[in-house]
Amino acid sequence: MTNAYVPFLSQIKEIIRHTEIEYTFRMHYEGAVKPGQFFEVSVPKFGEAPISVSGIGEDYVDLTIRKVGKVTNEVFENQEGKSLFMRGPYGNGFQISDYEGKELVIVAGGTGVSPVKGVIDYFGNHPEKVKSMKVIAGFKSPKDILFKDDIKRWEKQMDLTVTVDAAEEPGYRVGLVTKYIPDLTFEQKENVAAIVVGPPIMMKFAVEELKKREICDEQIWISQERKMCCGLGKCGHCRMGDAYICLDGPVFRYTDGKKLVD
Ligand SMILES: Cc1cc2nc3c(=O)[nH]c(=O)nc-3n(C[C@H](O)[C@H](O)[C@H](O)COP(=O)(O)OP(=O)(O)OC[C@H]3O[C@@H](n4cnc5c(N)ncnc54)[C@H](O)[C@@H]3O)c2cc1C
Ligand code: FES
Repeated sequence: MTNAYVPFLSQIKEIIRHTEIEYTFRMHYEGAVKPGQFFEVSVPKFGEAPISVSGIGEDYVDLTIRKVGKVTNEVFENQEGKSLFMRGPYGNGFQISDYEGKELVIVAGGTGVSPVKGVIDYFGNHPEKVKSMKVIAGFKSPKDILFKDDIKRWEKQMDLTVTVDAAEEPGYRVGLVTKYIPDLTFEQKENVAAIVVGPPIMMKFAVEELKKREICDEQIWISQERKMCCGLGKCGHCRMGDAYICLDGPVFRYTDGKKLVD
């Protein structure tokens, strides 16, 4: 029997630098994986960190990592051609079929764009599979904007609003993502599916705004971040109420997601 805790080595094929502290590590990986799933990335002697899949290719997965602590600091010491330890993918991820044929709305903030990026890419490349797609992506300031090359492509593929909380220079839409939810137009409210991913406070207010637009809990999905350890539903670190975020999530329909309390 294989030990699920034993990681595999994966080579860094490419590093895409977005900001000083946020890079995408394109890791060699061949296997089934869904947007919204995550890998445990580890550096011996430093530990493990759960990181969402931000892009999926035939022989790679993208991991967009913010350098914030002991593991991620060490990951940033690596260059292309070096290898990192990984195990996974874990979690349920986004189920593409939940959104097919819908008027899809995606509201994402900061690194929250990472887990949902695979969904944006998928429907951007297959526009015939959704009725429409509107994406609101918010960042703190212009220098914090992630995925600039992808954004250029998305602008042509969908109704995209990129916002920043504040900007000293002109040319940016300023305001929190929630400011742009009242402007969304829908043909049939019952056919809307909304995904909200970002910091907890942003998700709370974005969901409230969507509900003001008469989008009900069943039509909203969130992705929940949580301190994790095993990633396998064994240690209980990620438990909220009856749910293990690593196993039952991190993606939840809001009908279930709103019940998650410590
Ligand atoms: C499902 C899931 C998906 C995720 N996806 C991503 C992703 O795609 N990209 C990403 O970048 N992150 C992601 N995260 C978050 C990431 O796992 C955490 O940021 C992780 O803790 C980083 O590990 P670390 O060892 O580098 O940081 P840690 O050392 O664990 O530090 C984490 C945080 O604690 C703070 N901290 C550390 N030490 C102290 C201290 N002594 N006192 C006070 N504060 C301290 C740090 O400033 C930092 O904010 C995800 C988390 C989950 C649960
Ligand atoms: S991280 Fe161990 S049970 Fe979820």
